Amino acid sequence: MISDDIFNESKLYMPGGVNSPVRAFKDVPLNPPVIKKGKGAYIYDEDGNEYIDFVCSWGPMLLGHCDEDVVNAIKSTCENAISFGATTKIELDLAKYICTTVDNVEMLRMVNSGTEATMSAVKLARGYTGRNKIIKFAGCYHGHFDDFLVDAGSGVMTEGIPGSAGVPEDSIKNTLVAQYNDLKSVEKLFEKQGSDIAAVIIEAVAGNMGVIPGDEDFLKGIRKLCDKNGSLLIFDEVMSGFRVAYKGAQSIYGIKPDITTFAKIIGGGLPCGAYGGRKDIMEKLSPLGPVYQAGTMSGNPVVMAAGLATLKKLHTHPEYYVHLEKLGKKLEDGVKDIAKKKKLPVVINRCGAMFALFFTENSEVRNYKDAKKCDTGIFAKYFEHMISKGIYIAPSQFEAVFLNVKHTEQDIDRFLEAFSTFEI
Ligand SMILES: Cc1ncc(COP(=O)(O)O)c(C=O)c1O
Repeated sequence: MISDDIFNESKLYMPGGVNSPVRAFKDVPLNPPVIKKGKGAYIYDEDGNEYIDFVCSWGPMLLGHCDEDVVNAIKSTCENAISFGATTKIELDLAKYICTTVDNVEMLRMVNSGTEATMSAVKLARGYTGRNKIIKFAGCYHGHFDDFLVDAGSGVMTEGIPGSAGVPEDSIKNTLVAQYNDLKSVEKLFEKQGSDIAAVIIEAVAGNMGVIPGDEDFLKGIRKLCDKNGSLLIFDEVMSGFRVAYKGAQSIYGIKPDITTFAKIIGGGLPCGAYGGRKDIMEKLSPLGPVYQAGTMSGNPVVMAAGLATLKKLHTHPEYYVHLEKLGKKLEDGVKDIAKKKKLPVVINRCGAMFALFFTENSEVRNYKDAKKCDTGIFAKYFEHMISKGIYIAPSQFEAVFLNVKHTEQDIDRFLEAFSTFEI
């Protein structure tokens, strides 16, 4: 197989054959298909196999692959502007578009990835408050910045490791870990160390331990604790932003974070991140303030053009979100139905176009501990079955199934058909 040959050769030149660990399919009994092209809801591997794509580049491709408007924006920009490392009009256009169409972002700084956005947001919170400690939640993933690699979700959780080698004890001594959907665990940390806590960082809809929406009371309680203690609230909307709703998870809950981080969809499929929020906080960034953060490629014109074309299309087509909800509901109901008939031990969580199917005897999955009890052996079998039927999902129990606007009811029917023939 061409895919296998390429993957095997890749292992000679790139650790594990990949540039990001979870792509190596380490926890499922298969080599990854090597992807050659994508159009709309479909991707194709080097051997010519077609898959309905439910990974969507781990979230960014909400408009589907190679959307015409995004491709045209990239093409027309790169004829004249690839990179200057200087001020451009297109970076203003995207920043202004986000600040004026999304709530709670008065100013923002562009960076190149979600990791850069979250680590910079934490540095800004530390600089603003003059405090060092942060609270994160077990099972949430905010990128590979050292300070976050304690009980992290996503690939760290898939590998079943608590953190990462190479992270000095000193880097995580200021990281306090609370339990998701458990306000008491946050209260306890604030009681003891409230005056040292710079920020709480959270995925309001967690998407890196499967999908677990935060309880409204839990999230509102955190907002109150931050206010009471003079700490900042950072919503990491790298995954949920523009996906669960155009204005992100914060719009669903009606909660106002002090800083929001974005990535994935805002780059339209090109490498991009951003963090933004209250003006008085953002003005602490250099060159206005004392918090230093910089980037040669930040605000790259081609990336900005792809991002702007994507956000404009999403913002001017609110019906896309109606479509995504309809498909999400069909998928959720269909999977529940089949699982019930076949007596499969599953829990389904969903928020809009983010969906998770947990193989567990538990009746609910509300936090990291619940998610870790899932049967990854059954998941591996399920994964192998689905991909053999042309359904491309993430090779991990702890990642989301993502929908995009090009998916159709027939695509969901094909997912359900494939699932209906799965046997444990
Ligand atoms: C919520 C969240 N934050 C941060 C990140 C890190 O983003 P990136 O992989 O672009 O560095 C991710 C990546 O999946 C994420 O899901």
